[in-house]
Amino acid sequence: MKRVAPAVLPLIAVDRKSPTPLHRQIYNAYRAAIVGRTLRPGQALPSTRALASELGISRIPVLTAYEQLLAEGYFESRVGAGTSVSSSLPEQVPSRPSPGASQTRVDSGARPVAQRCSLLAPMQQAPWVHSWGPFGISQLALEHFPFQVWSKLMARHYRTPLLGALYYGDPMGMPDFRKAIATYLRTSRAVHCEAEQIMVVSGSQQALEISTRVLLDSGSPVWVEEPGYRFARDVLALAGCKLIPVPVDEEGLNVAAGIQRGRKARAAYVTPSHQYPLGVTMSASRRLQLLDWSQRAGAWIIEDDYDSEYRYGNMPIASLQGMDRNSRVIYIGTFSKVLFPSLRLGYIVVPQDLVTQFRTVRVALDLSPPQLHQAVLADFIRDGHFARHLRRMRQVYGERRRVLVETLRNELNCLQEVVGDGAGLHLTAMLKKGFSDRAISASASRQNLWAAPLSGAYLGEPTNQGLVLGFGSTRVEEIPRAVRKLQALCASV
Ligand SMILES: Cc1ncc(COP(=O)(O)O)c(C=O)c1O
Repeated sequence: MKRVAPAVLPLIAVDRKSPTPLHRQIYNAYRAAIVGRTLRPGQALPSTRALASELGISRIPVLTAYEQLLAEGYFESRVGAGTSVSSSLPEQVPSRPSPGASQTRVDSGARPVAQRCSLLAPMQQAPWVHSWGPFGISQLALEHFPFQVWSKLMARHYRTPLLGALYYGDPMGMPDFRKAIATYLRTSRAVHCEAEQIMVVSGSQQALEISTRVLLDSGSPVWVEEPGYRFARDVLALAGCKLIPVPVDEEGLNVAAGIQRGRKARAAYVTPSHQYPLGVTMSASRRLQLLDWSQRAGAWIIEDDYDSEYRYGNMPIASLQGMDRNSRVIYIGTFSKVLFPSLRLGYIVVPQDLVTQFRTVRVALDLSPPQLHQAVLADFIRDGHFARHLRRMRQVYGERRRVLVETLRNELNCLQEVVGDGAGLHLTAMLKKGFSDRAISASASRQNLWAAPLSGAYLGEPTNQGLVLGFGSTRVEEIPRAVRKLQALCASV
């Protein structure tokens, strides 16, 4: 026989000293909860036995109350499914809550919120929730993820978890995982680091948040790339930093322009491997200029190396952190592009002398990172699955990117040029004069195409119009049709 799943006990209190009989108190409490919509139609209710036991009373008054609520149509009961709030409530239940029923009133009195809330553009819904069509940014070929291996490793750790993995962990992250990350970064990104410098975080976003709290004050001037990554700017803006947009050209961040606009900035946020969104790789001379400026100015460089694992055709370029001789670079990386974003795992490489400050701030924010996924990923790396997956994905994405570039060049008449396709999981289709990326993007989204407007990535006036196109989750055979759709849109706006 199928067992009825136990329901959560509702917040019902009875007063034995009250002249109101217990069954009436229970009836009243349930009725008020249903009328006030605390309990919703169809919601499962606890058994009379469970409620009586929770209230510490005999079962009889509970049975009496349930019978009355069933008779009046507030409850319904089906064999094998237990008792639940009726899915079609009786007529006498008022559609508006009765006076005194719980409802938040928002139309009177002062309701102050922090001024910093107004610093960010309101976000009704996150953009990635709207669309899963072709060209989504930050979307991946998840059909190639080795879920079988992953679930075996998960099962191993969940079946017999080490006690330590269930308690709060090291605020910097699990030692074995940090060792694996340090080895990977030294080997593949030429990052100078030891495991003690690695802090495990829930992605680049938290990495930036912690770095900002350690390094910057409200009012601190910070260079940000123009155009740039909105979600990084949001973290800095929320901390009250003064954002100084510094133009990006074909060599990456224009350091001379940065010095002109804010020589004494406290930090620079950069994506040197694959600039977001233009996709350029910062040249060696610009890297040296940036490091030189940071040393002279006593400034920090926050290097966001978010998708450097993917390079196509050209030689891999070492991290900026690896070129730095003055420990001025805070290096941030993520597993969002290599594994999957909902994993929420990333890391910071913290300069040796700042480890204590970073650890202290981390504890104040969330004590320590969740442990079980760290343990699973440490095994995934140690057993060679990570390297295998990465090799495979480079081929998959390389092919998608090749077909996309070719099709854009052949089919998209409004295309000026493709930029930023040498690395990563997105490229930018620069548009010819006269085309509006926002107009094309808006009509594309109505056709389930995600063509993000380049102009949306500017803090100031956009100097270019383009479409930022992700190719991670767009299959080779889907690309020609999607590009043709885009072409039809460009022709009609
Ligand atoms: C510039 C940049 N940094 C970082 C990320 C990844 O962020 P997270 O690690 O928080 O998932 C992205 C995602 O698209 C990005 O574009």
